Amino acid sequence: MYRELEKIKEEGLKALLEIKDEKELENWRVKYFGKKGELQKLIINLKSTPKNERPKKGREINQLKNNFLDNFKNKKQEISNKSSQTKWVDPTLPSILPPIGHLHPMTLTINEIISIFEPLGYQRVSHPEIETDYFAFEALNMPKDHPARDEWETFFVNDNIVLTPHTSSGQVREMRKRKIPPIRMLNISRCYRRQQDVSHTPVFHQFEGLFIDEDVSIADLKGTLEYFTIRFFGEDRKTRIRPYHFQFTEPSFEVDISCEVCSGRGCKLCKNIGWLELGGAGMVHPNVLKAGGINYLKYKGFAFGWGVERILMMKTKINDIRLIYQNDIRFLEQF
Ligand code: DAH
Repeated sequence: MYRELEKIKEEGLKALLEIKDEKELENWRVKYFGKKGELQKLIINLKSTPKNERPKKGREINQLKNNFLDNFKNKKQEISNKSSQTKWVDPTLPSILPPIGHLHPMTLTINEIISIFEPLGYQRVSHPEIETDYFAFEALNMPKDHPARDEWETFFVNDNIVLTPHTSSGQVREMRKRKIPPIRMLNISRCYRRQQDVSHTPVFHQFEGLFIDEDVSIADLKGTLEYFTIRFFGEDRKTRIRPYHFQFTEPSFEVDISCEVCSGRGCKLCKNIGWLELGGAGMVHPNVLKAGGINYLKYKGFAFGWGVERILMMKTKINDIRLIYQNDIRFLEQF
């Protein structure tokens, strides 16, 4: 290695070793690699050296250049490592939150139902999902072989045990447990039926209200249903009750809510009726009160039972019940 080059190498590496920050490093880079830098000067000088020495010197300049480049990169890395280690950290800053989920729309709906009925004194209860034929049917005025049972498309475990097809099976259980009215029950539970299409799944949820006291009338039932629909669906919705038949209520009704799209004038959604069907209700049949051990001459009651998925779908315009249970994050994120 010729002398001049050796000198530059020695000086350059020594200077690099002492560098402490990015600014000094940049000055170093300009000094050696800049347009008028030391390496460039060596290349220019090359022209004035005898021809036969040029290739050797050229090679040596190149080696020095590579050597400087490697050392420069190492130094740069060293400085950046040091600066990230000494970065100031404020431990009081809120941390970056991991993605957090939320309650399932069904749980949100159930919580909302509870919050609407609780102020009226209704107590949320649970009764068995694997139920006896007695509480699911017989106690509800549907003796064995009664044709009305057909509507419930029931899963039988054996002759006497069923997967409860509705929350009404909790009515007589609750009466027997409480014994003395007033009784205000809100039974929310999974129910099971042999059914499957865009608006039915084999496992679904119902919420059942039962109110028993002296002097309970249809007006109380209507007021309660109206209170619920206004709270759940909004101020501008109307309800109506329409005669129907259930074995366990007399009289029985179907409850409708005014169509939100046409406000009752008639449209495609409500099939030009102006009303959408919510579910069943009625005044508790004396035979049911009797089965529950309640003095049916002194006390009266009303009951209603609606589908949780159904009201969720009506409120949010979900058009296929199966979406609720597919656990697709894109669907769930919307709630
Ligand atoms: N249990 C009925 C069903 O699943 C709904 C029902 C109708 C519940 C009338 C009631 C009622 O409490 O009074 O279709």
